[in-house]
This record gives sequence, C-alpha cells and structure tokens, in this order.
Amino acid sequence: MTNLPHIQVFALGGTIAMASDNTSDANAGAVPNLDAEALVKAVPELAEIADITAKTLAVAASANLNYSKISDLCKQVEAGSADGYVITQGTDTLEESAFLASLIYQGDQPLIFTGAMRTPSQLSADGPSNLYNAVLTACALEGGVYVVMNGDIHDPWHVRKGHTSDVSSFTSGEVGPVGYLVEGAVHLRTHEQQAPLEPLGSNQPKPVALLTASLGDDARLLEQVIGAGYKGLVIEAFGAGHLSEAWADAVETIAQDIPVILCSRCQNGTVFERTYGYKGAEIDLMSRGLVPAGQIKSRKARLLLSVLLADEQQDWHARFLAIKASF
Ligand code: SIN
Repeated sequence: MTNLPHIQVFALGGTIAMASDNTSDANAGAVPNLDAEALVKAVPELAEIADITAKTLAVAASANLNYSKISDLCKQVEAGSADGYVITQGTDTLEESAFLASLIYQGDQPLIFTGAMRTPSQLSADGPSNLYNAVLTACALEGGVYVVMNGDIHDPWHVRKGHTSDVSSFTSGEVGPVGYLVEGAVHLRTHEQQAPLEPLGSNQPKPVALLTASLGDDARLLEQVIGAGYKGLVIEAFGAGHLSEAWADAVETIAQDIPVILCSRCQNGTVFERTYGYKGAEIDLMSRGLVPAGQIKSRKARLLLSVLLADEQQDWHARFLAIKASF
C-alpha cells in the first residue's frame, strides 16, 4: 500500500498493444496481443506516480469494439474503487468510444482514454508516453471523460483522429484541446463538460445508419435504409448541409418514418439553417423533416441519436435540440 493514487488501467487492444505474432514472417504485420499487465510493465516510471492495477478487457483492433464493450467498461468503472481510470485502445475508433463513454458513464472518477499511433516495436513508439500522460491526467483530475494523446488533453465531444499515421493525429478542430501536459504537470483550462445522459437501464441503443453524400450519387443506397431496419439516419451532407435533388427526395421519404439528422462532410463549422433555399439546401431539407446537427459532427451525432432513441418513451427530438443548443 502506498500513498500514491490508485489508477486502474483497462486495456482493450489497439496499436498500443500490437506486435507481430509471426516471428518467421517479417511481413506478417502487427496484431493485438499484449495485455494490460504488459503495457504497464513497459513503463516502469508509472510506479513513481501511481499505484497501478491492470486488467485486460479485450485484445482487439478497435474496429471490433461496440456499444456493449464500452457499456461493460463503464459499468466496471462505476463499480470500482480506484481514484481514476485509464483505458487503452486502438486509435481508429477512440474518438467514438470516448464520446460514447461521455454519454453513458455515470461515475465520479476520471476516465481517460489513450492509445498509440505506433506499435511498441516501432522507432519512437508513442504508447509509453501516452500511457504515462494518461495516468498523470487520471491522477490530477477530479472527474470527467477525456482523451489524452501526444501530450494534449481533449474533450470527447470535439476530438477526432485526423491523420493516418502522425503522432499528432488527434485534434479538437476549431476549439482545440482543453489542456496539455508538460514537465510532468497537467494543465487544464477552464471549460464545461457536457453532462452524461440519463442512465439507460435495460434499454438498448437503436441502430442508426451514417451515410455520406458524394458527387453524382443517385441515392440507391439511401433507399435501403428503412428496409435494413435502421431506426435513425445521419447524413453527412455537402458543405453547410446540402444534398442533390435525388437525395432530397429520398431523405424526405425516410424522414417520414425515422429521425434523420443533417450533418456536414466538412471537418469544421456549423450546419446552416436559414441561408440557402434551393431544392436540397438546408431550408428545403428542414421542411422535409431533417434535423440540422449544428456543430455536432456526424459520428458523434450517430452515437448520440442511437442512445437517445434507446428510451422509446422519451422525446428524442426535444432532447437532441437541447443538447445541440448547449454544445
Ligand atoms: C486500431 O485502432 O485498433 C488500430 C489502429 C491504432 O490503434 O492506431
């Protein structure tokens, strides 16, 4: 027993936990195979800042994570007694896992997501420093869900992976990170995190499709959404929230059955509501039942809608608008 804070590390896999399984084939490629104990053991400096316990929840590529994995993780954290929690996982879906956790996690302890852009055996592997910084952040903060990558602290509502290989791949767009780490100290600027949604109980999130508009597409995939059993749809539209006339007609039919959220393909900016009036522009799409997402980006809007639809007694529309207004 030490006087150091108790930090629990939960490992879910990802590049931070990847090495080649095949010693006889140099081209076999990296696969997830390191457990939580191995990740912690590789950073002996952690013992100087925290009393660490480590548990492996999955040894997976992050493309295979899903709602139930993140929900189980949040339940384990809520039932735990550590001072803070660090989750290691693949970077491919890290922004979505952290965002989902920020919607459903009801606990008071900090929940810090991290990963790595380089495997442990690559030159200048970033996993050890990211893990160290995530543990430092979990020690320093009093609560909240954050992403720590490359010395920056991000709010899950804003963070995104923007580069396939750069260690500075994670950014928070126009708003920037909420903090950073330097010389072993955590610097967090004053900001307000969104509160989690009400606990879901036994309700399950509903399947929501995400489709991106592209030049000349005739909307034939869009027409499959209802038949495929989706309960909601998020559209990544052109620019400020614009679709072709063919897509406008197709989404109007869909919006008569299920919620359709209007997002943008653009990385930054807000979806418009009152500027363009041609067929397929935002004013026309809103009159056809689409709900503009404001600044909420498409992948996050999809998870948000999916969770809001879980409780069929609740008015998803009113709640979506309230969240959008507070964001
Ligand atoms: C993954 O997301 O599991 C693979 C890629 C990564 O971790 O950077």
